[in-house]
Amino acid sequence: MKDLNIGLIGYGFMGKAHSNAYRRVPNFFNLEYRPVLKAVCGRDRAKAQAFADQWGYESVETDWRKVIERKDIDAVDICTPNNTHKEIALAAARAGKMILCEKPLSMNAEEGREMVKAVEQARVPNMVWYNYRRVPAVTLAKQLIDEGKLGRIFHFRAQFLQDWTISADLPQGGAGLWRLDAAAAGSGVTGDLLAHCIDTAIWLNGSMSSVAAMTETFVKERKHNLTGKIEKVGIDDACAFLARFKNGSLATFESTRYARGHKALYTFEINGEHASIAWDLHDLHRLSFFDHRDEGRLRGWRSIHITDSDHPYMKHWWVPGLQIGYEHTFVHQVADFLEGLARGQPAHPTFKDALETQVICDTVLKAAKTGCFEKVPEA
Ligand SMILES: NC(=O)c1ccc[n+]([C@@H]2O[C@H](COP(=O)([O-])OP(=O)(O)OC[C@H]3O[C@@H](n4cnc5c(N)ncnc54)[C@H](O)[C@@H]3O)[C@@H](O)[C@H]2O)c1
Repeated sequence: MKDLNIGLIGYGFMGKAHSNAYRRVPNFFNLEYRPVLKAVCGRDRAKAQAFADQWGYESVETDWRKVIERKDIDAVDICTPNNTHKEIALAAARAGKMILCEKPLSMNAEEGREMVKAVEQARVPNMVWYNYRRVPAVTLAKQLIDEGKLGRIFHFRAQFLQDWTISADLPQGGAGLWRLDAAAAGSGVTGDLLAHCIDTAIWLNGSMSSVAAMTETFVKERKHNLTGKIEKVGIDDACAFLARFKNGSLATFESTRYARGHKALYTFEINGEHASIAWDLHDLHRLSFFDHRDEGRLRGWRSIHITDSDHPYMKHWWVPGLQIGYEHTFVHQVADFLEGLARGQPAHPTFKDALETQVICDTVLKAAKTGCFEKVPEA
């Protein structure tokens, strides 16, 4: 086994999810490479040290530039807010490091293009953590579509609903609340939540040609935690958009943080000529499938429990009937990255793939402003 020394930047929610994946992957997958938790970086040394102790990192840095300078780091994992991705990725590419970057790739497509250029010029392996592709049920949906089981696709509809920003007293900015601050996040639900839906959609159903959108910011001003002042809110609290795919299918996408009662309700449904597929993150180990070609008397929606060894990724886990969860999607993504490394193949989505999602997010936000259908430009 070869060691792959990881330098993790940011130890919040995703820092934990990725660290767990690095630790678990060699136990469940037989791979040529083994991730080594070499360094974790956070600006607060004591907190970073506590994280290092809890997760088994060998060392701590308080400046991400130090991680990138270190000769003993092979791969840089960017788990910081969106406004830091570009600068860290460009420096890491210049230093010849592999890069695993959290989504969304960047604040906007312009930044994303610079990042793609940088990794392509440096020829460093790169990947973006759109982890929902690696939910076994979602991977199975991809297999069924690619095998032609749905036939021609007519419709794609997706939703990502939350309810955590309804209170007008919730401040914006700073630790934990950077998602409400346009300067740190780039956009609101479009880049945060719809980006996931878009990545899954273009992976399953191909590229989009045009979009029309509406956005709303329900709470217009919030206290900013970094300045202490009441400031204008610059993010979209909710976004709904219509899309045409290049394959001729029509789509609707909706996301909000104002859907009282919903915490992370990511769902999608795809309707094809022969069959339909539906999936729900709150029940992520099931795939609903309807096949019109079934015998009439027995025709109906099946709820497939995705736990059998012939389901994607499942042979690596427990016995049939026992399900896995959210954290495993990150383990799968690391496993695919390491397997790709051994074969000299990229693991998807690469920066280039993620740029397409970024371009769509930008076009959605533009369409919300113009009120017109906007053509999606080439990434
Ligand atoms: N794939 C997913 O499903 C998913 C889920 C959540 C978040 N994300 C993405 O992951 C990234 C991080 O989100 P999160 O939820 O983990 O945020 P978080 O707020 O929980 O953690 C961010 C971390 O970055 C650190 N940080 C900020 N600026 C830094 C700097 N200059 N140098 C070093 N550390 C710095 C913070 O101290 C914190 O530890 C975002 O881009 C977000 O969009 C992806």
